[in-house]
Formats: sequence, C-alpha cells, structure tokens
Amino acid sequence: MKKISIAVLASGRGSNFNAIIENIKKGKCNAQINVLITNKIDAPAVEIAKKNFIPVEFLDKKKFKSREEMDDHLFELLKKYSVELVVLAGYMLLIKSKKLLEFYKNRIINIHPSLLPSFAGETAQKDAFDYGCKISGLTIHFVDEGLDSGPIIYQEAVDISNCSDEFVVSQKILESEHQAYSYIIDLFSKGTFSVSGRKVTYKKY
Ligand code: GRF
Repeated sequence: MKKISIAVLASGRGSNFNAIIENIKKGKCNAQINVLITNKIDAPAVEIAKKNFIPVEFLDKKKFKSREEMDDHLFELLKKYSVELVVLAGYMLLIKSKKLLEFYKNRIINIHPSLLPSFAGETAQKDAFDYGCKISGLTIHFVDEGLDSGPIIYQEAVDISNCSDEFVVSQKILESEHQAYSYIIDLFSKGTFSVSGRKVTYKKY
C-alpha cells in the first residue's frame, strides 16, 4: 500500500516527531516524512530531522511582512514537497494563510494534550491538573483557523488521578501521544476521514 507523504511542523522538543519516525521504521505507520518545517531553527526537532536525513525548512518570521504572507510561503513549501497530510506536532503558531487552509481542508491535523474542548491552549496539562481532573487525555483534531478548535478525529483518556504534579501529567499523556499520533496517520494512508459539521467518520479503502 502506498505510503502517505507528510510534512511535520514543529517548534520545539520534537518527541512526537521522533515517535512518528520510529513507528515508521517499525512498520507501524505507513507514512513517509517528506520535510520538517519549523519556525524555530534551534528547535531540538531540527536535530532529530538531520539525524534521520529528513529535509528541514525554516520559516523565518523576520523575512515576511505578515503572518499571512509567511503561511502563504508555507503553502508553497507543502506543494514543493508534495505533501498530502500536514502534521502539527508541537507547532506553536496558528495557520493564517486562507489559501493553505482551503487547499488542505481536512488534511491538516494537530495533537493536543487534553480532552477537548476542555483545556485548549498552551497550558492544557497544568490546567487539567490544577482543576483537579482525575481523567485527562489527548485529542487529535483537524486544524482550522481557530485555536485547538477543529473537528475531533480521535481521543484517548489518560488516568491522571495519581499524578503528583503537572509534569507527571504531561509525561503520562505524552506516552499515549507517541502511539496515538502514528496510529491515526497510518489510518489516513489506508482510508478517508470525512467531516460533516463537527462529526468525523472514517472509511477504509
Ligand atoms: C505535545 O504535548 C503536544 O500534545 C502539544 O505540544 C507538545 C509537543 O511535544 N501539541 P513534542 O515537541 O512533540 O515533544
């Protein structure tokens, strides 16, 4: 079966990026990573890409008049690398190009460390811990112009009742993220997700 061509967008540590690479090597994820795109050239994710001979493209905010212009360039990069699915993995920016969002509608995905719509935003694990949640988890969703707001593809609950602080919560959720993201990317290579309103359904080829 043909591998799905993906771009990973990351701004930081890159542990999800690394997990996808490893799961591809193990045959658990039928994908090929055509490029890593980052807005932080010193992000650890860049080192992971280099180590694995994955091309890196840097979006340098200073080179563009606006965020929309930068993301129009991102759109060009995605076409240049023949990307079929755009995978956000710790990418800390919203996508501002209307052309890109339109062309890649329902082909851009993000992973978020909470059960959305609870705890959107950058401090999801701390927010769930501070709230006293016993269960949190992860959400994989389509990306639209909003913050963690697109239709939900997949969710997994994680028991955080025994976690002593927000860092333990993050780590526990991350372990599930590292398997779940590859699993969903794999499904994209073997079928289609369709979206009706907020409801996402999957059909195998
Ligand atoms: C993960 O917790 C992910 O859910 C969130 O950002 C974090 C990225 O971590 N979107 P990493 O860079 O993949 O290690």
